[in-house]
Amino acid sequence: MDSTTAAPFDNLSAFERAVERARAAAEAYFGGETPLMPDGDYDRLVAGIAASTRLNPHWNDRGVATAVAAGTSGGDVRHATPMLSLDKITTTAELQQFVHTLNTCMAVVEAKFDGMACHIDYRDGRLVRAVTRGDGAAGDDITHQVTREPGIAGLPQELPHPWTGSVRGEIFMSTNDFERANAARTASGKSPFVNARNAVAGSIRKLDRAYSVPMSFAAYAISGSGLEDVDSHLERMAHARLSGITTAAMLTAGALPAGTLIYGHRAEDLQRAVDTLGDLRPRLDFPIDGAVIKADSRVVRTRLGSHSSAPRWATAYKFAPDTGYSILRDIEVSVGRTGRAGFRAVIDPVTVAGTTIRYASLHNADWIAQQRLGIGSRVSVVRAGDVIPRVIAAAGEQQEDVVPWIPPTRCPQCDQPWERSGQLWYCTVPTCSLAALLTDAASRDVLDIDGLGEEVAAALVEAELVRDLADLYTLTVDQIAEVSYVRAGTTVGRRIGVTTAAKLVAGIAAAKERPLARHITSLGIRGIGHRMGRTLAQHFGTLDALRSATIDDLAAVDGVATITACWIRTRLYDVEAVLDRLIAVGITTVHDTTTPASQGSLAGKRVVITGAIPAMTRTQAQEAAERLGATSAASVTTKTDLLIVGAGSSARRKLAKANELGIPTMSAEDFLALHAEAVST
Ligand code: IVH
Repeated sequence: MDSTTAAPFDNLSAFERAVERARAAAEAYFGGETPLMPDGDYDRLVAGIAASTRLNPHWNDRGVATAVAAGTSGGDVRHATPMLSLDKITTTAELQQFVHTLNTCMAVVEAKFDGMACHIDYRDGRLVRAVTRGDGAAGDDITHQVTREPGIAGLPQELPHPWTGSVRGEIFMSTNDFERANAARTASGKSPFVNARNAVAGSIRKLDRAYSVPMSFAAYAISGSGLEDVDSHLERMAHARLSGITTAAMLTAGALPAGTLIYGHRAEDLQRAVDTLGDLRPRLDFPIDGAVIKADSRVVRTRLGSHSSAPRWATAYKFAPDTGYSILRDIEVSVGRTGRAGFRAVIDPVTVAGTTIRYASLHNADWIAQQRLGIGSRVSVVRAGDVIPRVIAAAGEQQEDVVPWIPPTRCPQCDQPWERSGQLWYCTVPTCSLAALLTDAASRDVLDIDGLGEEVAAALVEAELVRDLADLYTLTVDQIAEVSYVRAGTTVGRRIGVTTAAKLVAGIAAAKERPLARHITSLGIRGIGHRMGRTLAQHFGTLDALRSATIDDLAAVDGVATITACWIRTRLYDVEAVLDRLIAVGITTVHDTTTPASQGSLAGKRVVITGAIPAMTRTQAQEAAERLGATSAASVTTKTDLLIVGAGSSARRKLAKANELGIPTMSAEDFLALHAEAVST
């Protein structure tokens, strides 16, 4: 309807009653209640109020018409009740102040999704309209974009019941969705999106985009039939969940320690919940930029009301940004433990989530080319899951003067051409990967040699004391003591010294005793990581048997593809001499079969271990399970027989999956007891 044609109210009290009704309607919507009146009626009411204030400028509309006026730039579809924003806080003191206004009323903490807010209407169980938040008063109709293939995950177009009502929530892109969207965009000749939020907004707006973009939805408010008398937010959201709509809480519930979202009224508890979400954030594969703390009760929400732009019953606790923008200055190429080429971006220093970043890893050469990255490119950098910062995309519009980066066709260390298998490049000259191989072999989960870090490994290689893995075991204290540390390819001048050297020699001697599986892993053969090392040790039993295995023998091992078998065979030939010398120095050559796998208490079971197992690294826990006869796998599938559940929030997701699939679980304590019993008998 045309709001300017509505008739003004002819007396002040009718006007004031109208203002009251309009405010109550807006309030109801904010509190997630059923709308008090149809959209059209609300429009007419507000238009009448606006017309009245034009005629009687001294009449006070208490912000009702102003909100509408602000909405004219937001889009074509006016929200029946405005979509307000949230007040933002960043400190504990502000949180305490907010809790004070709640006055011991229960609050819930949800992740604050960083995407695009929208309002969705269902009628008789069908999604009939989706509208963006716009400027809060009016937004754009995006029904078509939301319902076109492949749809929006978590936002069903048909509900299982003929429900009528509305949900509000956030459309967002997971990390993976974002990278796929950017790949599709750059492939169609456009510059990549700056971040996932822009990518959502950009993709949603674009009606005629040629490529499909995966996106997801998280609901944070609901109102409609059957919910009129439901006061609690948690209960209301349960209704959304049961209708197949993904709720904000569902997406983090699996990872939160309590297994659900936090519910409380004490500032300490709410702060802890906020911090937990903050800690979780790097490991989530969807973008969140804070936590929303909101009163649970609708009655409380209505009582607290809202000020001009935000409700008083909710607040957003914002996190420090986890994405930074910088300029790419150089790309360094190095060779890893298996000879794989690694690409590292040198960027202008940028602070991301409290840490200054100067280097960030890059996927691979193809990806760099696809993103058209060059020296001078603007890039976005995230501190992803395991703290190693990563360049995720070329960010936004690029400068004119970007110098294209051409990857070297040869290994920078030996000048031999790369072996290119698919997207990954390798240098097959063993000495190029030696320092990385030694560092990796020394790590806790492999040979566990204290003091053999990057600098020492590089120094030993540089001094030509170590030319292959076997040389490591022949080193003497005097030899090592004289060597100078090497940092970033340059000798630092300081010598290692006798004390450190003696410790290192002792550590190396002790490493000989590590299980066969770990020695197999320490060889640095492509395709043989921790798990494959154990699989091979278990399958072949002795180093000799592994050495004489044919390609067919290797391909017969569970989980070894023919191509991997060929590769392992080739590399085993290459390291023949090294293997002879390793055997000569006395490394473990026989798989520990104290408990024959076929007789262990977990014999034949496929187990998955999740969470922290006390006093064990993940590898040690997997070894323990294998000692009991199990084979271990990384993810829970229908084939999994048992999930061993350790401590920590990381266990929740797998636990939820196991419960869903009806897979039995075992606590870390029971597992340790079982293991201790087996080892002692
Ligand atoms: S509650 C009155 N819960 O943050 C608004 N909002 O900065 C009630 N947002 O526009 C919103 N995650 O789109 C709420 N779990 C969540 C949220 C959330 C993201 C967005 C929302 C709002 C913006 C405010």
